[in-house]
Amino acid sequence: MHVTLRQIEVFNAVARHQNYTRAAEELHLSQPAVSMQIRQLEQGIGLPLFEQVGKQMHLTDAGDQMYIYGREIAGLLDEAEIVFEAIKGVKHGTLTISVATTASHFATRLLAEFAKQHEGITISLDVTNRQALRKQLENNEPDLVIMGQPPEGVDVEAAAFMENPLVMIAPADHTLIGKKKIPLSHFVNENFVVREFGSGTRGATQRFFDQFGVPFNTGIEMTSNEAIKQAVEAGLGLGIVSIHTLELELETGRLDILDVQGFPITRHWYVIQRKGKRLSPAAQAFKGFVLEQAAQFIRLPK
Ligand code: PGA
Repeated sequence: MHVTLRQIEVFNAVARHQNYTRAAEELHLSQPAVSMQIRQLEQGIGLPLFEQVGKQMHLTDAGDQMYIYGREIAGLLDEAEIVFEAIKGVKHGTLTISVATTASHFATRLLAEFAKQHEGITISLDVTNRQALRKQLENNEPDLVIMGQPPEGVDVEAAAFMENPLVMIAPADHTLIGKKKIPLSHFVNENFVVREFGSGTRGATQRFFDQFGVPFNTGIEMTSNEAIKQAVEAGLGLGIVSIHTLELELETGRLDILDVQGFPITRHWYVIQRKGKRLSPAAQAFKGFVLEQAAQFIRLPK
């Protein structure tokens, strides 16, 4: 059997996405290049690995088996890399971090500070939402993840390092600004500008409203906190976001926080890894940095 590691890497990506285009995007390859690698792997093995049912791609029985071995081979390569990184020491390692969209507001600052303290480390940062982070942890992809609340159903080690208060925001000239302890029931008919399904902020907010039996009317959906703040400022509705996204808007007086009963909704930021994952020296150093020093580099709005 003649197969190459590159073919296995491409196969793993196609099997994970069940889609050639998305695998090609992830690998920064063209779709024909991905198809060719899969064809060559199938020839090497002598069996088809995928079948097309309607529009959906599926793994064949041989494909299922290949995916078991493929992940094992990728895991072994990762392990070998960690051993070599350990030999090189923390000075020349690589660090693969994935953070929740909301955490990106401070994660870049953290990484910049960490990079200053550890000059030889190469850093790769992925920003995505809670649901996607869960999938990445399942697939044991990043070294570490920063997100609010550890994901359910995945075996992880999680350590909280900072509060993540969610607040209700309004345009600076809103009639409720300055009112004290507004009851949540005041907002039964309010339309909120909200994050997409899969966002941790959205899930926590929905649970909060459910807990008080108040309907949470989700008017317009957006995948970025920046877009939500602009929409709120433009008067499209009220919003609920992490205070970590608000520094500039509060300083320049473009938005204000409403004093609503039960708010802020308290969440925490966690640094998370797959249980039992062996961290490279670079990843260990970053985890230590986050747990011990992160708070001092993250300025909360006054
Ligand atoms: P997000 O935030 O998914 O809403 O960006 C992360 C979280 O609060 O879990």
